[in-house]
Amino acid sequence: MNILVIHGPNLNMLGVREPEIYGDMTLETLNAMLEREAKSRGVELDTYQSNSEGELISKIHHAPQVYDAIIINLGAYTHYSIALRDALKTITIPKVEVHLSNIHAREEFRHQSVTAASCIGQISGFGAASYILALIYLVELSN
Ligand code: DQA
Repeated sequence: MNILVIHGPNLNMLGVREPEIYGDMTLETLNAMLEREAKSRGVELDTYQSNSEGELISKIHHAPQVYDAIIINLGAYTHYSIALRDALKTITIPKVEVHLSNIHAREEFRHQSVTAASCIGQISGFGAASYILALIYLVELSN
């Protein structure tokens, strides 16, 4: 099994960005942890980050050629990008939306996800564990 983790805008700034909300783990450390978790479950895992909506859309379009499933944190695009919602709908491999923070406990504009409905479900508020829970689910789903 081959899983792609997609990180959207501003997630390259983890560790520096609002640590009281997102913690002090850098994206590099988070990715290394996810790679270890995947390896321990016999799964291949790649990570990708972009701040650009168009690049994220292209990555999603091409993902099924290489990957069996996607874990995706679209950052602020989650709340308004119909283009990313449509891109996710276009591909049929399993997708799980994740968020480090609990978007439902934050500002009202973060309560809505326009992209979650294009995924199997959403895991929000568990920090790095949101990604690991998604990984565990996708591995189970493939068995
Ligand atoms: C986030 C939540 C979004 O509202 C925010 O814009 C982010 C990060 C999270 O992981 O908690 O960039 O997706």
